[in-house]
Amino acid sequence: MDNSILKIGHRGAKGHLAENTLESIKKALQLGVDGIEIDVHRCASGQLVVFHDFTLDRMTNGTGEVSKHTLNQLKQVEVKGHCQIPTLSEVLTFVNNKCLLNIELKGHDTAEEASRLIAFFVEKKGWDYKNIIVSSFQKELLQTVFKINKNIPLGVLTDSNLDNAVAFAKTIKAVSIHPDYTMLTHEVVENLKKDFKVFTYTVNNLKPIKRIKSYGVDGVISDFPNRL
Ligand code: G3P
Ligand code: CA
Repeated sequence: MDNSILKIGHRGAKGHLAENTLESIKKALQLGVDGIEIDVHRCASGQLVVFHDFTLDRMTNGTGEVSKHTLNQLKQVEVKGHCQIPTLSEVLTFVNNKCLLNIELKGHDTAEEASRLIAFFVEKKGWDYKNIIVSSFQKELLQTVFKINKNIPLGVLTDSNLDNAVAFAKTIKAVSIHPDYTMLTHEVVENLKKDFKVFTYTVNNLKPIKRIKSYGVDGVISDFPNRL
């Protein structure tokens, strides 16, 4: 197996501890990941919080839309396993440029604040742009980041149409394509790699992990990064 394939913990280490929490991110770091993927939403008071779903119900003792709660309110909510919802700022501080951070813009209106925070952490807190990738399924969000700051590396997520993703990725000078792993064959990866890095998700079982790695992808995102 190629050791240069980046091991990326999905939502921290989702297979081990509550996703998108500092505890899960700490676990991923302990497992020796090269990178960590997280999701962000904008809350009602404007800060970006690290959370996957649009609503609180599945993962917390709260209910309703994340974007309708202020940060104060979200901090009162308990994530399964006695954890708290972290802000993107807290995660950037915690990871502290120790590995790649793949920030997926999940919620509406997240691009401006993500761009501002990333620039702040690069200029003032010792982060390198090369340790950041901002990805999204939502083209407008990536276009906004591209307009604001050309130094931020961008990745295009897709679970449906690779040609479309590639065509769009060229317009925003994306560095990577992030396809659902079920879309990949050896030939597909070879083609994508002519212009982009390939970071694929979410590969958890040993058989597909072996197969996907044999295609020569650049990184694999997994709930169990220790299996990579
Ligand atoms: O970034 C890869 C992957 O996390 C995208 O899907 O639904 O797990 O955010 P999802
Ligand atoms: Ca994600």
